[in-house]
Amino acid sequence: MAAPLFSLCGISHVFPNGNKALSNITLDIQEGECLFITGSNGSGKTLLMRIACGLFEPSSGNVFFRGVPLDKARNLRSSVGMVFQDADSQIVGETVVEDIAFGPKNLRLPKGEVEERVRFAVSAMGLTEKRDYPPRRLSGGEKRRLAVAGILAMGCSAIIMDEPFANLDYHGVVQTLEIIKRMKTEGKTLVILTHELEKALAYADKVVILNKGEIRDQGNADETLDRLIPSYGIRDPRKTYARAADCTWLN
Ligand SMILES: Nc1ncnc2c1ncn2[C@@H]1O[C@H](COP(=O)(O)OP(=O)(O)OP(=O)(O)O)[C@@H](O)[C@H]1O
Ligand SMILES: [Mg+2]
Repeated sequence: MAAPLFSLCGISHVFPNGNKALSNITLDIQEGECLFITGSNGSGKTLLMRIACGLFEPSSGNVFFRGVPLDKARNLRSSVGMVFQDADSQIVGETVVEDIAFGPKNLRLPKGEVEERVRFAVSAMGLTEKRDYPPRRLSGGEKRRLAVAGILAMGCSAIIMDEPFANLDYHGVVQTLEIIKRMKTEGKTLVILTHELEKALAYADKVVILNKGEIRDQGNADETLDRLIPSYGIRDPRKTYARAADCTWLN
């Protein structure tokens, strides 16, 4: 059997102030799976994925990318795209189009191919009208769309999306879901870190529940939700509303 895309082995991290942010996380992320990692604010989702991508060194534990220790792994950057929670930190170009072209240009693709990929990504993420805008003048939701467009243009085989629905309006959510669906059909690996399970759980092959830096549960979405306990701080998204008067999360 092929090695998992990522193997996280006994990852722990304690910050200098004593905050034990991750405790002994062991998790395989298989190629082609759509994995949801959920948990309340501060549960460790972002930190764990930053560690997986080699952007942060944990206090202990090992990460393997396709079976190879992270420090020896090649092609991680061109294979795995990460859409950060803070979209501002990802802006690299002077205009929307330049920003999206940055990744494919770095891959040294022919000019025509870069242009084609940028055209596709701009249109897929609904940024056509803003194509010549300076990214800093985009709204928060548009910046997130831009970040996803950049990854699409890279043609990565895996994508990690950190809170992909934050700040997005209805159309933005739909466009993001269409991308998720499409990537799944293409057999790409998706890792989605989100509290907003109700928007996308239909596409999850597996759900991992993080709480206070520990994996509390993992498995099939329905079974995992059936086992939810209040202290995880996660709302069961299967609750639906029939009337406006029922629309409150205070129940
Ligand atoms: N420099 C730091 N010093 C101490 N603790 C830190 C530091 N940076 C991050 N943390 C802590 O690490 C923990 C995990 O943070 P992380 O950003 O991974 O959470 P998260 O699950 O992504 O939360 P959110 O849902 O808010 O995005 C938090 O408790 C946070 O306070
Ligand atoms: Mg986070």
